This record gives sequence, structure tokens and C-alpha cells, in this order.
Amino acid sequence: MIQLENISHVYRGLLLRSRAFASFKRDELDIISEDIISQYNDVDEIFDPMSGYGGGMYYFARKGYKTTNVELNPPAYYWQVLINPQNTESIIKIINSILAYRDKWPILHEKFSISDEIFAEPAIKHIRFLYEMILNRSKKNDLLSISILLPFVSRFANYIKSSTNITHFKHGGFCSYVGWDDDFEEYLNILQERLLLDVVNFKESNHKNILSDLMNLDLSDKFKFFVTSPPYPNYRDYSKLFKIENWILDNIIYSKPTDFKYMIGSNNVSGKKFGDIQSNKSNIFLTTLLDKSKKLTKKSRRDIETYYHPYFSQYFYNLQEAYKKLDSLLERNAIGYIVVNDNITRDIIIPVGASICDIFRNLGFDADDIDASQINHFGNIGKMAKRINSQHTRHIIKVCKK
Ligand SMILES: C[S@@+](CC[C@H](N)C(=O)[O-])C[C@H]1O[C@@H](n2cnc3c(N)ncnc32)[C@H](O)[C@@H]1O
Repeated sequence: MIQLENISHVYRGLLLRSRAFASFKRDELDIISEDIISQYNDVDEIFDPMSGYGGGMYYFARKGYKTTNVELNPPAYYWQVLINPQNTESIIKIINSILAYRDKWPILHEKFSISDEIFAEPAIKHIRFLYEMILNRSKKNDLLSISILLPFVSRFANYIKSSTNITHFKHGGFCSYVGWDDDFEEYLNILQERLLLDVVNFKESNHKNILSDLMNLDLSDKFKFFVTSPPYPNYRDYSKLFKIENWILDNIIYSKPTDFKYMIGSNNVSGKKFGDIQSNKSNIFLTTLLDKSKKLTKKSRRDIETYYHPYFSQYFYNLQEAYKKLDSLLERNAIGYIVVNDNITRDIIIPVGASICDIFRNLGFDADDIDASQINHFGNIGKMAKRINSQHTRHIIKVCKK
């Protein structure tokens, strides 16, 4: 039997394998952890300024470190809240209370819907009831209620999954509501089982999750150690990875939609401004890309000039500004590790790793790879078809503030 068949593949990956698109890999964090253990004995807390699904928290909690995690995309943040060991006991209690109340769960009379929208009217009404029910079972803890609800809302969505592009959902289509309650029970049981298995392995339960754009973050704490991984410049909109869940947050839960203006790597370039890019490596890449466009067809040239060049310029500029902001949150002599993959565009390597080294050196840090390896990345076009640009260099960069 396929588990969690009816919820989005992002959450299925997170629930069953603790991984989703662009998560840290265990071997990457092992390399960092070994370096930390062999070099420093004063590590108490690890900061991640762009923490995604909390892969760093999940790993370092097992090693006995506290963590502070900042994330801009709300569903990724709520996932962190769900797996934060600090919350496990309360979440288990809420799940038990919801399961014990099964005969009073809201009834969804409609059997199906066909809609052009992500959610049809009956689903919207039902999700509202479900949220109210979870809120009541949780003694009005809205943070934990939202965290429990979100991974399940795609069960009620009218959408078509793309097997070739995981950040893309086509909205509209058919949705059957039949058996939603069995699916909800399955989801709650799997979540509970997973949290109970995890909790025995955590050695430290003190972790903070902060929902914020790093650029607007105002913190009194300064950090001595950080471990992070930037969004990739692959024209994907990270907010779209959770389009379904963000729709629910924006339309049912929040009073005002999230502003993804400074989502780094986002594919939207229109009307955005960027400033001076100080990294030599980024500038050489940008010039090479423009030079290459001159040898291509008129259409390709126009695509590069109007889309790809502004896109990469914006990416490198935003990354530079984000790391400047990160620097302002670090103590003197701080140490950081950044896991990064270099993608390829039009046969040109996008020098993300080397640009990050430039950015930190320009800020007065020492910055070098402690590990670089070739990884095979299966392209978007299916697992069997390895594309020519599927070889990436994965860098683990260590930076030391002087
Ligand atoms: C590569 S992912 C991190 C994944 C993480 N290492 C993990 O294992 O779960 C990069 C994250 O940066 C976040 N991000 C992008 N721009 C941001 C910003 N301005 N402030 C905070 N987070 C941001 C994205 O939403 C994305 O979740």
C-alpha cells in the first residue's frame, strides 16, 4: 500500500524520508560536524539564516546543539515547528485528542469537485472547519494547529502534480473527497509515529524557529557558529513549492499575504532592481553569459538579455546583501559552513560556490572549500534520463570571521 498517497509529494518526502527539494544531505552535515568536533569545543548553538525545512535543526539536535533557524517561506517554517523537539509532547497530545474525537470530525457532504481554482468552495469551507476543530483540540494553540493542518490541506486541492518539476503545480482539475477522514487518520498516525521515533534521538530540545525575511530580521543575539545552504539559482520560485499551502495561509489563516519580494533565487525578475555586485567570479560569469548570447539565435539572445542575465544579476546581488546581513548577526571570530551546489546554464558553470567565497572575503572573512565533490544530479526530465548538465560540483565552504 502506498502511504500518504493523497497528500502533496513535498510533504510525503518530508514525512516519510525527512527530505524534500534542496534539503541538506546527511553526508554534508557529517563533514561539517566532524570539522566542528575536531576544531572547537565551545559550540553551544548553531544558527541557520535560511533554514528551509529545518534540516540543520533536525541534525544538530541529535548532536546535542541548540539551534536558531530563520525562514521566509511560511510552510517550510511550520514544518520546522512540527519537528522541533520542544513541541513534540504538545503535538502528540493534540493528535491523540483529535483521533479520540473522530466521530465528531466535520462532515464533508460533497463527494468531489471539479474546479479551475486550487480549492473549490466545499473544500475551503471544510478546511475552515478542520482548522477550528484542531484549534479547539489544541486549546487554541494556533501555531501548532497550523503546523498540524498544513501538510494535509493538499488532500482537498484541485491540482495536477508534475512528475518532472516538483516546484510546479498546475491548478484546476478533479478532487475526490471520498475517504478524506481515513487519509487524515493515516496522516496523523504517521506523523505521530515519526515524532515519537525522532524524539528519543534528540539530545538537545532548545531550538528557535523564526518566520522572517532575513533582510528584515531584528535580533539582539549574536551567533558564533552558523551552518546554512542558499537557494539555488535555478529559476524556481521556492514559494511555489508550497503554493497550495500558501494559498490556505493567505486566504484562510492570515489577514495579509506573505511578501516574497526578497525570496532569493525566485524566478520573478520583472521590475526588480539590483545594485553593485562585488564578487569578481559573479561578474565574470555575467559577462560570459552575455558574450555567449551574442553567438546564439536572436531569440536566445533576447531571452538571455531580458530574463537570464537580470535573473542571475539579481540572484548574486541578493545573496551578497543577505550575507552582509548575516555578518551583522555574527560575533567576532565567528565560524560558518555553507553547503552549495554549482548549477550549469547554457553550458556555463554558475559559480555560486566561488562567488560565496568572494562575498565573504570581501566582508573580511577567510573563506575556503573544505570539501568539493562532483555529484550527479538527475535532471528534471525523469530519473532515467541523465542530462548533459546533470554533473554539479557540491562545495562545503568554511568561513572564519577575522
Ligand atoms: C536550500 S533551502 C534550505 C534548506 C535547508 N538547508 C534544509 O535542509 O531544510 C534555502 C531556503 O532559503 C529560504 N530563503 C530565501 N530567501 C530568504 C530570505 N530572504 N530570508 C530567509 N530565508 C530565505 C528559502 O525559502 C529556502 O527555504
